[in-house]
Amino acid sequence: MCVGSAMDHFHLRDGELYCEEVPLAAIAAEVGTPVYIYSSATMCRHVEALRSGLEGLDDPLIAYAVKANPNAGVMATLAMAGLGADVVSGGEYRRAIAAGVAPQKIVFSGVGKTEAEMRLALKGGLYQFNLESVAEAEMLSAVASSMGLTAAVGFRVNPDVAAGAHSKITTGAAENKFGIAIGEALDAYARAAELPALKVQGIAVHIGSQLTSLDPLDRAFTRVGELMRTLKSAGHDIRVADLGGGLGVLYDPALAPPPSPADYGAMVRRVTSDWGVRLVFEPGRLIVGNAGVLLSRVIRVKPGAAHPFVIVDAAMNDLMRPALYDAWHKIDAVRPSGECWTANVVGPVCETGDTFATAREMDRVDADDLIVFRTAGAYAAAMSSTYNSRPLTAEVLVDGERWAVVRPRIDVDRLIAADRLPNWLAGCAGGPSS
Ligand code: LLP
Repeated sequence: MCVGSAMDHFHLRDGELYCEEVPLAAIAAEVGTPVYIYSSATMCRHVEALRSGLEGLDDPLIAYAVKANPNAGVMATLAMAGLGADVVSGGEYRRAIAAGVAPQKIVFSGVGKTEAEMRLALKGGLYQFNLESVAEAEMLSAVASSMGLTAAVGFRVNPDVAAGAHSKITTGAAENKFGIAIGEALDAYARAAELPALKVQGIAVHIGSQLTSLDPLDRAFTRVGELMRTLKSAGHDIRVADLGGGLGVLYDPALAPPPSPADYGAMVRRVTSDWGVRLVFEPGRLIVGNAGVLLSRVIRVKPGAAHPFVIVDAAMNDLMRPALYDAWHKIDAVRPSGECWTANVVGPVCETGDTFATAREMDRVDADDLIVFRTAGAYAAAMSSTYNSRPLTAEVLVDGERWAVVRPRIDVDRLIAADRLPNWLAGCAGGPSS
């Protein structure tokens, strides 16, 4: 299952785009569009690349950030490859367990864990809670005590480092809501150590996502190392350092690639060489980002003031990243004619923000042609919605010659069935009464 060495396994064969051994057009014919398609071999390749980058570290735990792509087929593939999970909600915890992730490989992050979420994870078991405040530590201790259990914890510290990522996905600057300020950490650890049902064992940091330079990570980890020494000399038995995720992937092949897992691993080995703790990593995008594409069909092409509008059957509700972060996704024809043009690619949703690309140099396409949005394995289906009452996009997992629908399209019948009319309107359903 986990073989192959190409960056990703979406490639042209006889003039058409394949995922591994499966022509994308065959999936479109059976499942319809839009549809997300994931490559098992690509995910496995990234797991292997990260593992080999981290070689030499003592038993690191790679806890896949479930938020990037929580699909059961994706997570089961990663669980089989030995990964744990970084979860940020009770829902993610349950989905990770359901997909076969071992509880002792689960870390629970997230800014606002509720009592119910704490209870759920304590009952099912986990490796560590990454706490975000003293108040959260107090609540967790009370919940664990009431269950007769002890919770293993670390604090997520905010190192006040500018990550240089998009402002909406930067998390490690002092003004961000995440973690406890590094200057307040000593007091927070002292308070947590007094709490009866906590085992204070760790420290955690995560400064942002889609990072394209190692410098901010290096600075953040260095600060965490200094704090760890202070904590150890204050008597805290710190055995775990969770270094978060954040390593970027290449969306635009015309740009310089972000640091590789090997570069990242070398930096981590250098900074942490004398830490003497178990390291945890929480990669999301790095593992699944370029393991997915969003396959879509051109509905029609209409003229525009400067460039034609290619109206496709995917929209901002299916892939939100361009509307939300001005994110750039490469767009390719599934059967490229060899001709290029400059076009705007838009979805059918009634918002100007429903624009995937403006004045984009791309394959020339026409009505009914299939296109893909590349690098759509992370934060893509995971962030989709049914806005404009559009069905929730289907997802397909490919493994060599095999493929399977790993989430059927959630159609409008199911959306209608999910709503309830209050009793005072019940008689009105089906049309206005006179
Ligand atoms: N750990 C924590 C605590 C996180 O908050 C995140 C991501 C990760 C790990 C994984 O980061 P990664 O390795 O994937 O960069 N929706 C945005 C990205 C939001 C990231 C949120 N936190 C996007 O589409 O770019």
